[in-house]
Amino acid sequence: MRKDVRILLVGEPKVGKTSLIMSLVSEEFPKVVPYRAEEITIPADVTPERVPTHIVDYSEAEQTDEQLFQEISKANVICIVYSVNSKTSIEKVTSHWIPLITENTDKDSRVPLILVGNKSDLVEHSSMETILPIMNRYSEIETCVECSAKNLKNISELFYYAQKAVLHPTGPLYCPERRD
Ligand code: GTP
Ligand code: MG
Repeated sequence: MRKDVRILLVGEPKVGKTSLIMSLVSEEFPKVVPYRAEEITIPADVTPERVPTHIVDYSEAEQTDEQLFQEISKANVICIVYSVNSKTSIEKVTSHWIPLITENTDKDSRVPLILVGNKSDLVEHSSMETILPIMNRYSEIETCVECSAKNLKNISELFYYAQKAVLHPTGPLYCPERRD
């Protein structure tokens, strides 16, 4: 059985990576966050899959490209976070983040990706129409989820999906947001 799970969050600045981690840990939305959260380890007995889970933040403001590449190569699953109200942050998923991850991961060991649309509290409409073609194009994308660090919506689900993507990978087409 797998010893532990290492989850890395990447994405454009200000999409809410640090807020998502802090919301999970404190179960409330933090008004002020540092650029980068300390690496946290969730003990096995409080995770849904009973495996110790490390959650690793990334911030361009505090880390070099080299440090990012190293974290990418150490990760078991990578959450690419975008903000549902920022078209640019969605475009960067395919123009920047997926190619960067592909370049920095071992070609034989498939690292599952999760697309995370944060700040769902700010919009009426789902970003799924834009996201589904991306899901279909890249088989390494395990699933997608829309969430809000502010409303605490789908936060624990997000980290559960990440854990599950490592422990029980499924096909590329499952998208929980499609259920009505
Ligand atoms: P960098 O560390 O600079 O890469 O940014 P980040 O991705 O870690 O974003 P951060 O958590 O610092 O959040 C950026 C801003 O978005 C802050 O003002 C947060 O309060 C706000 N924010 C984060 N999550 C949400 C959310 O779910 N809803 C709303 N409305 N605002 C959010
Ligand atoms: Mg941050």
